[in-house]
Amino acid sequence: MTTISLPTTRSNWGLTALPPLALYIHFPWCVKKCPYCDFNSHALKFGGNGDDGRLDATLESQYVDALIADLESCLPLVWGRPVTSIFMGGGTPSLFSAESMDRLLAAIRARVKLLPDAEITLEANPGTFEADKFAGFADAGINRLSIGIQSFDDAKLKALGRIHDRDAAHRAIEIAHRHFDNFNLDLMYALPQQTLAEALQDIDTAIAAGSTHVSAYHLTLEPNTLFHRYPPAVPDDDLAADMQDAIEARLAAAGFEHYETSAFAQPKRQARHNLNYWRFGDYLGIGAGAHAKISFPDRVIRQMRYKQPADYLAKMHEGGAVQTEDAITLEQLPFEFMLNALRLTDGFALNLFTERTGLPLTKVIHEIDRACAEGLLERDLEHVKPTEQGRRFLNTLLERFLPD
Ligand SMILES: C[S@@+](CC[C@H](N)C(=O)[O-])C[C@H]1O[C@@H](n2cnc3c(N)ncnc32)[C@H](O)[C@@H]1O
Ligand code: SF4
Repeated sequence: MTTISLPTTRSNWGLTALPPLALYIHFPWCVKKCPYCDFNSHALKFGGNGDDGRLDATLESQYVDALIADLESCLPLVWGRPVTSIFMGGGTPSLFSAESMDRLLAAIRARVKLLPDAEITLEANPGTFEADKFAGFADAGINRLSIGIQSFDDAKLKALGRIHDRDAAHRAIEIAHRHFDNFNLDLMYALPQQTLAEALQDIDTAIAAGSTHVSAYHLTLEPNTLFHRYPPAVPDDDLAADMQDAIEARLAAAGFEHYETSAFAQPKRQARHNLNYWRFGDYLGIGAGAHAKISFPDRVIRQMRYKQPADYLAKMHEGGAVQTEDAITLEQLPFEFMLNALRLTDGFALNLFTERTGLPLTKVIHEIDRACAEGLLERDLEHVKPTEQGRRFLNTLLERFLPD
């Protein structure tokens, strides 16, 4: 009889191959803080500069210097590994100038092996679109935009405290079309006082705008936000669920594949950077508050950098801004893997679990089969994916994989 030995300690555990490596860069400033947002974003006036909607040039330059130094400090962790994608997220990276982005990307190319076909995405707020600047972003090598539209309805945009209106949203899309053939539109639904028809009107407008990708997020009232403290009247759970169903149907009819909880893409236009997260790939994370996950043959580590821009800059000045670094324990690895992979509509190939975690499938197969029996997952010998029920009750499904 053959016995399967389970690695239970780090000493007999190992990864046979390292996953693909991506690079996330955080830009922590916004013109104004939106009342629903719990991302690490800081209104400009609190960033030590003016409140005229522009980032101070000295601060901008210092931040780019810090990002470059931050990347350099990570290099020993990933020697020789190619970088498959870059995501510039925020905050509002589009507040930075095209010259700064060009300088940053040149510095990245000089320090890591960036694959020639790497997807390079920039998150952009419609309130920051200037035609020349976006031409410059494209010239710098950025080849994908993710535009925070949220809604095309002026009353809703006002209720969300956005700095842009419907016209600015359309202008941003027109400029995006001029310089980019690949862009995502972020929309939110279940907005204050929103009807089903209004939610669908936003989706129809996004489809007509000709984007390659749509992210449709259910507005959540996150702790530590103004909306949490003073909750607006939002649609109840039943209406929000109806909106979700109708949005999915509309996007499917327009040829968008629903490939992740909130993400919809035209054929071959899935967000490669995000797919790497969902397939439990590795990523460096530089900039204020950025997270990283890096695999080694004998461990997988997580890092988080100082969140406050001033702290981050000061720490980088002293030589490094990593606030916490820890190894993901063998007990945490299955949950961490599932937390990402089960967001994908197509789920994952069973052998990916072992490839990414170094653990044998026997660690999770019992829970997978139990979830299959309950109609939350379905699998064959090679592949597992969430059922419609499993996608709807994703948190219940994920709890199964929590460490004891
Ligand atoms: C990190 S934000 C950056 C986008 C960019 N700063 C902007 O807002 O134009 C990415 C997206 O997350 C979504 N988002 C932010 N807060 C949310 C919330 N409380 N509920 C649902 N979606 C949210 C929004 O659609 C937003 O565009
Ligand atoms: S612009 Fe984007 S990142 Fe900034 S506060 Fe608003 S939602 Fe958050």
